[in-house]
Amino acid sequence: PPMENLLNLDEIEQVATKQVSKKAWAYYYSASDDKFSKRFNNEVYRSILLRPRVFVDCTTCDLDTSVLGHKLGIPIYVSPAAMARLGHPSGEAGIAEACRSFGAMQVISNNASMTPEQIVKDAAPDQVFGWQLYVQIDRKKSEAMLTRINKLKAIKFIVLTLDAPVPGKREEDERNSLAGATAPIPSGVKAAERTADDTPDVNGGSGGVGQQLFAGTDPSLTWQETLPWLAKHTDLPIVLKGLQTHEDAYLASLHAPQVKGIILSNHGGRALDTAPPAVHTLLEIRKYCPEVFDKLEVHVDGGIRRGTDVVKALCLGAKAVGLGRPALWGLAAGGVDGVRRTLQILADETKTCMRLLGVESVDALGLQHINTRIVEQQ
Ligand code: FNR
Repeated sequence: PPMENLLNLDEIEQVATKQVSKKAWAYYYSASDDKFSKRFNNEVYRSILLRPRVFVDCTTCDLDTSVLGHKLGIPIYVSPAAMARLGHPSGEAGIAEACRSFGAMQVISNNASMTPEQIVKDAAPDQVFGWQLYVQIDRKKSEAMLTRINKLKAIKFIVLTLDAPVPGKREEDERNSLAGATAPIPSGVKAAERTADDTPDVNGGSGGVGQQLFAGTDPSLTWQETLPWLAKHTDLPIVLKGLQTHEDAYLASLHAPQVKGIILSNHGGRALDTAPPAVHTLLEIRKYCPEVFDKLEVHVDGGIRRGTDVVKALCLGAKAVGLGRPALWGLAAGGVDGVRRTLQILADETKTCMRLLGVESVDALGLQHINTRIVEQQ
């Protein structure tokens, strides 16, 4: 269907679900165990109520913001998600093209299905990318990647993902692999940065796509060892992804200025099931160590599907919010235009929400615009 007929992110997901291979659907859709965290990531936003003010001039509304000193057109970015070409041949470069239209930031996955060089090839001069690292047991491989990343001007920071030292138990993905070859995908779609010897084409190999991609990932990372190692191989700022407690947010703040940001995330419910949604972690940090917000930029992802979700996360102190599945579903539903449509819907909804709240700019959003009583009781 024409993309402009799709009115919300759920409709885009429904269209994408009908179009993609069973293998792609199972990998994108899946989450761990009973998928409680995946559902709750989104539901928790329904428990926060908005506090609209009246008699405020909202003739204009501006979504401009910045991340780590870089200007962005919207406070919504694309989270690192592996294997975009499973959903559409334009892959991660297609997502980059759509982001370009909005001044939106994109974090490239370590397990992207295209090389970072290919993905940033047509970057606009002011386009902002991050690159996400899964540290490999064979450190030489990660070091070689960092050397390449350091040379790409468009990549402004490294995102180190910490919430998945081992893969979660994702049953749709595993079940689909048991179904065997019933779900052919474009041949040769694989994580571009894994050499042939360590990651098979996802048509081959055993276990779900997720299990295969995790082969070779180092589960031994620590605060003491890994950040100094990283400092030896890149001068780019570090953003730690997958923090889920105020204790870890505080520890991260002790590593400023090497660490410049944190992303509160439970990996879209794909790592530890019943882990908290980012909203709970935001509230914990506000309560126990609010100084973290002065030392680090705080970002969130997981379950963002409506403009009101975006606004609530920003009111709680997030600088920007990430989209995992919605970007992949957009790509699968309509290629570059599908991702553009996803970003357009969310940007429009965010603006409408802000104007109905009586807020003209992203910086003006704050705790005064929300009521979190129900979440505090959860
Ligand atoms: C992910 N995510 C992820 N995160 C990461 O740090 N590196 C990765 O390679 C991937 N790969 C990946 C693949 C797929 C198919 C999904 C759905 C997710 C997690 C992602 O960055 C993000 O945290 C969540 O997807 C956010 O939740 P929503 O927006 O999907 O609800």
